[in-house]
Amino acid sequence: MNRKSIKVFAPASVSNVGPGFDIMGFALDEPGDEVVVSTNDSGKIVITDITGDNGKLSRETENNTATVAIKALCDEMKIKQGIDVAIHKKMGIGSGLGSSAASAVAGVFAVNILLDLNLSAEKLLPFALAGEALASGAIHADNVAPSLFGGFLLIRDYDPVDIIRIPVPEKLHCTIIYPDIEIKTSEARQILPTTFTMKDVIAQSGNAAALIAGLSSGNSDLIGRSLVDRVAEPYRAGLLPFYDKLKKKAASAGAINCNISGSGPSLFCFSNSRKKAEKLASVLGEFVDEQGYGVQTYVSKINNLGPKVIE
Ligand code: HSE
Repeated sequence: MNRKSIKVFAPASVSNVGPGFDIMGFALDEPGDEVVVSTNDSGKIVITDITGDNGKLSRETENNTATVAIKALCDEMKIKQGIDVAIHKKMGIGSGLGSSAASAVAGVFAVNILLDLNLSAEKLLPFALAGEALASGAIHADNVAPSLFGGFLLIRDYDPVDIIRIPVPEKLHCTIIYPDIEIKTSEARQILPTTFTMKDVIAQSGNAAALIAGLSSGNSDLIGRSLVDRVAEPYRAGLLPFYDKLKKKAASAGAINCNISGSGPSLFCFSNSRKKAEKLASVLGEFVDEQGYGVQTYVSKINNLGPKVIE
């Protein structure tokens, strides 16, 4: 048979976005993962290569988010075609940037094109979520959905999935600070309380609603004062030894506000221009370096495109 092959990119994402625990996320221009899928004659899904993971990821198809997602898609569609999968990680594992989600999204997005399945992104979502569930131990779409659809998304409900695209101000930029600390999402979920006071629920709902209003109307002050989290940040901040100091530095360097990206260790800051976003990357990157941690920084707008074919 003629061997077909395709290489795709799926973007990293920031989930939670302050008050939107498990219900808000947006895609970044960079970083992101690359996945190459090729047809094979074995009738099996095979991981042929993984790069950029420092040997941390499983090479077994049932223990890798990309191939679990691809297998869920093939099982549902009764596809017997063998597929070789090469995964090129372009961001750290356990970075809080939706690394496992990006690989799962890239996998199903690539196979959809490779095998001419013509499935919509909505139809691909449950398969990508099956991959993500392997990594985080829970079904949450706040990384997978932005990586797959692009944009800033609100996941209103999971049963059935109800996703709403939120308009964002054109000038909004995001700075990512990724310190060299590894946090496993599954562990960072276990430290969260399972019940909250009425006071917390009211504050969280108020901030989540106000953040959406601020984004939709382009009101930076409102975005800044709504970027407050009562559900995850108070419990996860302790995983980042310099978190409070870094937040203060971000405010004095011109950030609208900042918070933990997903389950951390990455942080994101919003600002209103690329110049400010780059300044934040430099000031905060230097600060984390001074604390004795390796650090990577990224500057991005909200990526409205989602995954794309690169070869
Ligand atoms: N909403 C999830 C969490 C995202 O915070 O646990 C994890 O990447």
